[in-house]
Parts: sequence; C-alpha cells; structure tokens
Amino acid sequence: METAIERNIDNKDRRRFLKLAGIAAAGGAITLSTACQSTSKKVPSIDHSLSENRFWKRVQEQFIIDPKQVYMNIGTTGAMPLRVLENYDQYNRVIARHPMGFMDEMDWDFGMNKQRELLGKQFGCTKDEIIFTRNTTDGLNTVLFGLPFERGDEILLSHHEHVSALSPLNILKDRFGVVLNEVEIPVLDLEESDQVVEAFKKQISHKSRAILFSHIPYKTGVRLPARDICKLARDNGLISIVDGAHCSGMIELDFREMGCDFYAASGHKWQCGPGATGILYIRNHGDNLPLLWPQNSCLYQFVSQPVHNDRSKISDISSLFGLRGQENYPALQAMLDACDLWEEIGRGRIEAYVCELSSYLKKRIKQAFGKSASLFSPDIPEFTSGLTSFNPFPDVSDQKKIEEFVDRLKKEMGYVIRFTEFNLRKGDPKSTYASRISTHLFHDQKQVDGVVEAMYHIWKTM
Ligand SMILES: Cc1ncc(COP(=O)(O)O)c(C=O)c1O
Repeated sequence: METAIERNIDNKDRRRFLKLAGIAAAGGAITLSTACQSTSKKVPSIDHSLSENRFWKRVQEQFIIDPKQVYMNIGTTGAMPLRVLENYDQYNRVIARHPMGFMDEMDWDFGMNKQRELLGKQFGCTKDEIIFTRNTTDGLNTVLFGLPFERGDEILLSHHEHVSALSPLNILKDRFGVVLNEVEIPVLDLEESDQVVEAFKKQISHKSRAILFSHIPYKTGVRLPARDICKLARDNGLISIVDGAHCSGMIELDFREMGCDFYAASGHKWQCGPGATGILYIRNHGDNLPLLWPQNSCLYQFVSQPVHNDRSKISDISSLFGLRGQENYPALQAMLDACDLWEEIGRGRIEAYVCELSSYLKKRIKQAFGKSASLFSPDIPEFTSGLTSFNPFPDVSDQKKIEEFVDRLKKEMGYVIRFTEFNLRKGDPKSTYASRISTHLFHDQKQVDGVVEAMYHIWKTM
C-alpha cells in the first residue's frame, strides 16, 4: 500500500525528492543516508478487509503514545500517527538540507493551489474557500477582526464559548463598541435541536449582525445543531461564524452543506496533525458574501485592492488570507497527510467509531456512578461527540475536588483527562466543574472500561 508521502510524489518528483532527501540508489539498492534514516518501526497499513476489531487494532498501531499512560485529552491536543510523524520528519530533513527546495520537490506552488484543492475536497468546498491556519484561534481572529463591525452591532454567542472566541470578541467590544449577547443554551434538559435554535432565535433583534457558536462546546462536549443554527442566521440576514475546534478529524464535515459563512478548526486536535496547524473555511459562493478585511495578509494589493475589496469580484478569497509570508510547509504537508490517512480510514467510519465509544463511556459512567453523578454530555446520537463531561460528586461547584480527582487519576492510575469550568445556567453565581474525557480512534472499549474503573476507584477514596 502506498503511503501518503509516496502518493504526494509522482514518479518524476519521486526521483528528485529521493535525491534531495539524500536517498541514493547504489547498485540498484536504495540506502538511506544516516541523516535520513528512520528510527521507528514499520508504519502499519490500513486494511479494510480486516474484521472490525482487527481493523481498529491496526489503526491504533499507528500511534506511539506512551503505553504507561492512557491519553484521553485530545480535546486539548491530539497525537500524530506514525505515518504522519515519519513523513514530517522527512520533510524537515529535506528542508534542512535544501532550504529553498521543499516547494519544488513536494509540488507546492506559491498559491498552494493543489493543497487547498485537496483540503477542500475533504471538507465539502472548493480551494478558493479554504485556507491553512495555525489553529482555531488564528481562524477565529482572522474572521472576527476582518468583519467590519461597528458600534452598536450585536453578536450573539452561546454562553459556553472558548476564550479563543471570547478574547477577540471582547476586543471588538472594548475597541469598537460591539455588543456581545450571550445566549443561554440548554444543557441538562437538552432533548431536541429546536431548543437550541429557539434560544438563539429569541435573542435576534434589529441590531444583530452575527451568530458565533462552537459546533462542539469544549465544556460539555455536546454536538450542537450547526446546520439549523446557520440556517437561522441566514434566514435573518446574519453572518454565521462557527468554532469547530473539536470537529475536524472527529466528525465528517461538509461546509457547503452546513451553510455556514465561516468555520475555524484545528489540525492538531482530533485531526492529529502537527502543532500549530488548522483550517479556515470562508464561504465564497452564493449570495450575501460578507465583506472581509484582511488583518494579516501579504497579497492585498494583488487580490483585493484592484476590485476595491468587493467580495463578488474576488474569485479566490483564500489566496488573500492563506498566504502570510513564509510558512511551515513541512507542518502543513504533515497535516495534509493526516487528513489523507483519515480519508483512507474513512471519515464516516471514524465518526461512527468515536461516537459509539463515547456513548459506551456515557453508559458505563451511568452504571458505575448512578444518580449521584451529573452527566453534562447527553447520550443522544445527534448530540454525541467524542467528548464526555461529567462530575461524580454531589457538589458540582467544588473546584478543588474535581482538580484533585483529575490529578489523582493521572498520577495514581495513568489516565490523562482534564476538567472544565462553566455556568450551567447563564448568570449562575457559582461555576460548575466537570471532568472531561476524550475518546478517539486510538482508544477501545477496554480503555473505556479502564478509565471508568479508575475514576470509580479514585472517587470511592475521596
Ligand atoms: C472550543 C474551542 N475553541 C478553540 C480552541 C482553541 O484551539 P486552538 O488551540 O486550535 O487554537 C479550543 C481549544 O481547546 C476549544 O476548545
């Protein structure tokens, strides 16, 4: 089976790449120069003919996470699979030997056309609508500071947003007088998508300009009805901005189908690419394309200025936002390789696996902790994600207790999770705390049983 790096290099380029990487053909046998020798074990291939269990076991062999721990905090950052890691290492060696050679040898052109096209195909859009970013924060800042908000304009946001959105939003508030309207979304009583849509709908006024929400809020791990919220925004002439930090690599995404205007996502979390990689979708087709000013760009005079930044006349908006000086091309290519691997495994298959495992975890938590535990992530298929937030203690506002619980789980039992803090109801005088467990494609039911047993053990002694 060809690996991603091999597929990226056609025969002609392959010869040049091997030459550049220092791989010399001697007497017909290829030998790696010491600098390029791989130190890792053989990269396992993806084989769809295997039974379900063996298939996932093979996928799991792609990961080299320290076996002394069970890493369940992908929500903060993921882990690169072996194939991605090895390719990344090779790319860095190419660039170290030939600083100007990477673009040529890996078939990257100045506009990153081929790579944006590949990304677009995987996320339901065209190359003119998708860019590489450093992370979700970078994408959200690009959008929020690029939209021409004015004093008195109102942005609706859920009451469970991340600081990566809250920080630029609060700058807009202090700098330009933008009004932030936090909308309370249902948590413990969530049963239907309409409840979430209604919550936003009720708050729309003549001052509203945009709705910003996390597709999967990091605090509770609930999957919000993104398509319905974007439709609500569109029907009311509002701009939709989605924080999709936890979605790329976890669930299938089709930006056009979702109908959002902007979608910022991470490459380093569930997509398991290198650090400081992400993607940003900027809708560039259809009506009412929002005006967007670049805040961090180097091509304004070439792309936007000649047409007075008129969105309807800019054919490739992503070229304007994507190129920002010299890039970390090895990292971007390695993220593409991770995407490539996900496609090979099947994004639908990954989503089904992750959600099944997560639902299993929720059931096991309920069995183990019974009614005394608060489960903040509903076990309802349409709202399920790979994040599960729960608090096993009666006093959910006791921060020290949950901190100790999470700490001891790592130190004594080797399970790495985190805790989150939020207001269950908007304006609650006290914060609510939850432990948050991430389950991904490199976990299995045994590890889920393991974390539940370990949590139960710690809980019993507290
Ligand atoms: C909902 C949400 N948005 C944004 C971010 C920031 O992501 P990044 O580190 O990719 O900027 C996080 C990080 O955990 C998050 O949970």
